[in-house]
Amino acid sequence: MNTYGIQYVSSREIVDRYLSFFCERGHYELSGSPLVLPGNSTSFVIAGMQPLLPYLRGQTIPPSPRLTCLQRCLRTDDIEAVGINSLKNTSFHMLGNWSIGDYGRREAITMALEFLLEHLGLEKATLWVTVFAGDPELCILPDEAAIEEWVRVGIPRERIVPLGVEDNLWEMGGIGLCGPCSEIFVDRGPNSGCGSLTCRPGCFCDRYLEIWNLVFMEFERLTNGALVSLPRRNVDTGLGLERVASVLQGAESNFSIDLFLPASERLTALQAGGEQTIELRARRIILDHLRAVLLAGFAGVEPGRDGRGSVVRRLIRRAARQGRLLGIQGPFLGELVEPLALGHGSLFTGEEHALLPTLKERITHEEALFARVLTMGLRYLEQIEPDGRNVISGEQLFRLHAEKGFPVDLATEILSERGITVDWLQYERSKEEHRRVSRVSAEKHFRGM
Ligand code: SER
Repeated sequence: MNTYGIQYVSSREIVDRYLSFFCERGHYELSGSPLVLPGNSTSFVIAGMQPLLPYLRGQTIPPSPRLTCLQRCLRTDDIEAVGINSLKNTSFHMLGNWSIGDYGRREAITMALEFLLEHLGLEKATLWVTVFAGDPELCILPDEAAIEEWVRVGIPRERIVPLGVEDNLWEMGGIGLCGPCSEIFVDRGPNSGCGSLTCRPGCFCDRYLEIWNLVFMEFERLTNGALVSLPRRNVDTGLGLERVASVLQGAESNFSIDLFLPASERLTALQAGGEQTIELRARRIILDHLRAVLLAGFAGVEPGRDGRGSVVRRLIRRAARQGRLLGIQGPFLGELVEPLALGHGSLFTGEEHALLPTLKERITHEEALFARVLTMGLRYLEQIEPDGRNVISGEQLFRLHAEKGFPVDLATEILSERGITVDWLQYERSKEEHRRVSRVSAEKHFRGM
């Protein structure tokens, strides 16, 4: 039993129970897509439904109108938020079930609740849900049908929270398929919360943990912003494996679940200290980013200057810098590769396990290349004195980047931890001036030839 009074369930077991549950209910199990999908609009797969878009759009006939899958995802759009709370990951596993023009709200809601209560052992009294509150501007009414279904399965009205477009009209990147959604939250109790009387799902604090999103895909957002009704309605759901595992394992955060445990222990052995809150964030960032790097590596993405490679390089560099906050001086990320793979067990395939030595070597090489720049940049940033408004000149930052190769985003983040901002106008001016000087010297060089 864990602190929620629930039986411990491993991540692997959650996946197996989920896929069997939906297969027994007529769903066809798809294999997860690789993280890099040719022709995709994003660098990596960012949601479980993305590889299924041809089915959802009606462009390809699915093997069944009911589908289920475990999908790896990688999103770095809000990378700065990782580590600040207990639930934000860049890489995560999403379990999903889909109805391609088959069932609607009733079955989606009934099955979701049955799975959580009877197959994972959650208590109904801890569950809250949100529904779409409607939007007069978009001429969409409140989702009364979803409320009715939640009431029918026994969720009291006071635990059904209507929220607006921001929270409960799910869309992926502005255009394309979208629809009202209903999110399921677990109440982790007052001790995890902000204590406000109005604290409910949607609150910024950690009390209500969103675990499952049920999207009723009924509209298409056109490029001009208009919403049109779809002739065929789909259901798209996404259950966050790491989040639900954190509940079922009574874990403090996504980073304390079984998948991360061996790597977390290894990190403890490597680290030499660190102030408590800084340490918590640093550890979470390291575990999160390294896993993202491994998953990207399995999909064939190496650290590099551009595109996906630059995302991986950024993840390695951010993680390396967090190591310094824990008092670890040399390259250390490679040390965590095997423990991370151990924690993931059969969630990594045999071929992926076989790739680990190569990835470990690549990560260590990348980290070692960056180590000198990091040491020098950190020293430089420590010595920078802001003006009375806590602003530093853009030229200083530009020189750090242009002359020493220190990444601007990382420098900005480090400065912001000291409450320091950058004079960006001056930064742009320095950049322009640098370009002008380079142009002139190149012209002189060619004239002289
Ligand atoms: N597409 C929805 C999400 O990503 C549900 O899977 O949250």
